[in-house]
Amino acid sequence: MTVINFYQFLLLLHVSKACPIVTSEYWVDWFTIWGGHYNSPDPSRVLDNINHMYSKNASINIYMIIGGTNFAFMNGGGVNQPITTSYDYGAAISENGEITPLYRALHAWIQNLTDWPQKPLAIPSNNP
Ligand SMILES: *[C@@H]1O[C@H](CO)[C@@H](O)[C@H](O)[C@H]1NC(C)=O
Ligand SMILES: *[C@@H]1O[C@H](CO)[C@@H](O)[C@H](O)[C@H]1NC(C)=O
Repeated sequence: MTVINFYQFLLLLHVSKACPIVTSEYWVDWFTIWGGHYNSPDPSRVLDNINHMYSKNASINIYMIIGGTNFAFMNGGGVNQPITTSYDYGAAISENGEITPLYRALHAWIQNLTDWPQKPLAIPSNNP
């Protein structure tokens, strides 16, 4: 088994002909720095990448599928770039527990797979 993150995926395809591929962290987005703009991932870009990995029979770990929160000073930071306490990372289920457009896109994609043995359950509604 070969375990990688998404940015190594294409390179690995060239050297890993005879073993299973695992994308250990497929980053749909990244953290937000103080004063920075929060970016939510483009679901169609994520689905393009996931479709590509799936077509190569890779196992995929979506990072993050559920957003969280850092507390106190655990969020860390780069040089002159303190990071917000959010650990949402554009997750399909947001830091505050909401179903996002990315979740709906992933759900529709899985629902659509003909070789997926168990169809996903209905999407729960968000809190009002
Ligand atoms: C993926 O797995 C299927 C089923 O074993 C196989 O038919 C197909 O050739 C594989 N595709 C790749 C790209 O390895
Ligand atoms: C579902 O499959 C159809 C037919 O292949 C395709 O046109 C459509 O884009 C797919 N939708 C998703 C969400 O993957």
